Amino acid sequence: MTDDSAADLAARRGMETTVYQPAEDSRLLADAAGDHARGRTLEVGTGSGWVAERIAVETDTEVITSDYNPEACRQAHDRGLAAVRADLVAPFRAEAFDTVAFNPPYLPTDPDNEWDDRMERALSGGESGRAVIDPFLGSVGRVLRPGGVVLLLVSSLTGFETVVENAEKQGFDVETIRQESYPFETLSVLRLELP
Ligand SMILES: C[S@@+](CC[C@H](N)C(=O)[O-])C[C@H]1O[C@@H](n2cnc3c(N)ncnc32)[C@H](O)[C@@H]1O
Repeated sequence: MTDDSAADLAARRGMETTVYQPAEDSRLLADAAGDHARGRTLEVGTGSGWVAERIAVETDTEVITSDYNPEACRQAHDRGLAAVRADLVAPFRAEAFDTVAFNPPYLPTDPDNEWDDRMERALSGGESGRAVIDPFLGSVGRVLRPGGVVLLLVSSLTGFETVVENAEKQGFDVETIRQESYPFETLSVLRLELP
């Protein structure tokens, strides 16, 4: 799986209706995590488990996955990953992880066009695009060990500057560690660390 081209990833995503399949954003997060993940690592919103599997194969971290979607947990489990059904980081104990990675649902969606299924939960970030990102930023600090880091995928569609500001409001130091531009969006990976 790890040598898929972006085109292969996008084609597979288009065929799937229940669980988000790896695409360019997944690959960018996995690339960043290969360099920055360490210690005990949680991938929130793991989807197919592809990012977490790459982290497990390419680093010496202990990887745990979670997702709100039970079918995603099943796909991650089928890859041999520990999978927990969870709303963001709610069930995990305080200071449990050295690294938390998340490729969140981020597409801004008109409330009249919400389609209310599991793929919507994977893609839609509500009207602002930040309906999942903001609660994540508000809760993830609790589960980080001292010196722990968050690796967060952000799209220009979601309001890059606003996400950075909201992360800073939660007390994080913010650094951009990956950035790639595509015809309709620029994808970035932020590294967040509590000072
Ligand atoms: C854009 S997909 C990313 C999937 C995978 N990590 C990847 O990069 O290919 C977002 C994932 O977050 C999950 N998700 C959405 N809201 C969530 C929440 N509140 N708690 C946990 N997972 C959530 C979705 O089910 C979906 O699997």
